[in-house]
Amino acid sequence: MRATAIAHTNLALVKYWGKRNKELNLPAVGSISVTLKDLFTQTTICFKKELRQDVLYLNGSIADASPQKRVSHFLDVVRRKTGINAYAEVKSRNNFPTASGLASSASGFAALAVAACRAANLDLNPTELSVLARQASGSAARSIFGGFVEMQVGNRKDGSDAHATPVTDEKFWPLHILVAITSGPEKEMGSTDAMTLTAWSSPFFRKWLETSHQDLADMRFAILQRNLEKVGEIAEHNCFKMHALTMTSRPALLYWNGTTVNIMLAIRRLRRQGIPVYFSIDAGSHVMAICTPEASQKIRHVLEQVDGVSRVLITSPGPAAHIVEN
Ligand code: DP6
Repeated sequence: MRATAIAHTNLALVKYWGKRNKELNLPAVGSISVTLKDLFTQTTICFKKELRQDVLYLNGSIADASPQKRVSHFLDVVRRKTGINAYAEVKSRNNFPTASGLASSASGFAALAVAACRAANLDLNPTELSVLARQASGSAARSIFGGFVEMQVGNRKDGSDAHATPVTDEKFWPLHILVAITSGPEKEMGSTDAMTLTAWSSPFFRKWLETSHQDLADMRFAILQRNLEKVGEIAEHNCFKMHALTMTSRPALLYWNGTTVNIMLAIRRLRRQGIPVYFSIDAGSHVMAICTPEASQKIRHVLEQVDGVSRVLITSPGPAAHIVEN
């Protein structure tokens, strides 16, 4: 009734934004990400007969009501599947700065899905685990796998075909990914609510859906060709399209701050100097950059000089979610 798992977070190169079913958390578009080696969540779960409710500890402290509720909701799914009627104690730790607003739901819910299944004696294959993790958070479905990963949009009503699949393993292409953490206030709205808002209020949402297949096909091809220039060009285009949705929603959402813009400008300057480096930004102000291993130290140095950057991490494609102890 107890298990520990690790899952790594991921960077979406073609973004998931929008849902076609909120209840089952089915995505409106497919997405492609790279799992990140050095940013992960370790989660221990223990089902205990004596508990009167689920309890979540995040980085050593009891979590707020909202993440508690989300975790409990997810554990209800596991309980329904297994017939277990005990509540659980969940202890989750990120090895990266959570308060900075870096996406933790992907690694957090992927680790929880893997640990909860082991603890509940539910033997699922990675595809089934991905379906399960998706119900908690769309991006978590991708963190079940390592390397480059594609989330299938699926078309079945029950969501059984809306899961991630591996594109290539983490050894296929030893890219470097930099994470530039910007200082500043927390983001204004979480992605779950922001997706709903943009879907009904941005005039560009329909175009976003229409152009998604092309971005996915081009990205898949570019990854398999190890074509950094192409991967970077599609990733930046797709990232700007997603942020255009948030900026044109009503009310408008602006995830960037001044530092975010200055990092993008610095990256474009580096490119003009002949250094192949490309950026992507999730629903927050931090900037991720992809480049070759040879260029990453120089790029880190440049990004560290940008006013408002508090820290720059360097990582590379990482492994699938896994059990670490039983
Ligand atoms: C901008 O996976 O956090 O990071 O399914 O509602 O939990 P929910 O959304 P979430 O959305 C991630 C949005 C994104 C893009 C991406 O990771 O593809």
